[in-house]
Amino acid sequence: MITQGDEATGSPASLEHADGVGRVIVSAEDLQSRIAELGVRITADYAGRPPLLVGVLKGAFMFMSDLSRAIDLPVQVDFMAVSSYGSATRTSGVVRIVKDLDVDLAGRHVLVVEDIVDSGLTLSYLQRYLLAREPASLEVCALLVKDGQQRTDVDLAYVGFHIPAEFVVGYGLDVDERLRNLRAIYAHASRSS
Ligand code: IMP
Ligand code: MG
Repeated sequence: MITQGDEATGSPASLEHADGVGRVIVSAEDLQSRIAELGVRITADYAGRPPLLVGVLKGAFMFMSDLSRAIDLPVQVDFMAVSSYGSATRTSGVVRIVKDLDVDLAGRHVLVVEDIVDSGLTLSYLQRYLLAREPASLEVCALLVKDGQQRTDVDLAYVGFHIPAEFVVGYGLDVDERLRNLRAIYAHASRSS
């Protein structure tokens, strides 16, 4: 059966009522308007030096897709996949590179596209890893930052939204590999952050 989806959030209706999906934290509409703003800023900041967008899989796939289309420059895109050791919802800061980049970073203006910064440990590992490849510049664009959770200093050039320290799903973010295809960001009841 085809369902119409929720008018306010745009998410498929039955998914939105899946087990554990709580209130909307960032609506689909707010995501899209903020991403448009970030696109305008990045377009201006990188005029004359189109960036290489490096998406961190899997969580950033949807954000990467929308953000790249909001940037009016001839960007290139590449992806890395990382997995952090530790429990599913808590990172230990030890990161395993599951898929490395295909392109050489030397001399490139690299903009890392991340879904969410929680402890910041994943990102700080990635920054060190990428800097060793001697890019011309390295900045980070994170869609979400969980307030008060950072255990390390990460320098974020672009941030979509600061959100409360709760476990969230949707728009690329998963719980046990599910619910990435929700169009908005929702609190998820079964996990605490
Ligand atoms: P950090 O190393 O603690 O900053 O965690 C970063 C990674 O953990 C993110 O890239 C996400 O993949 C995952 N993560 C952190 N918080 C959440 C959440 O609330 N929902 C889903 N994934 C999360
Ligand atoms: Mg994840």
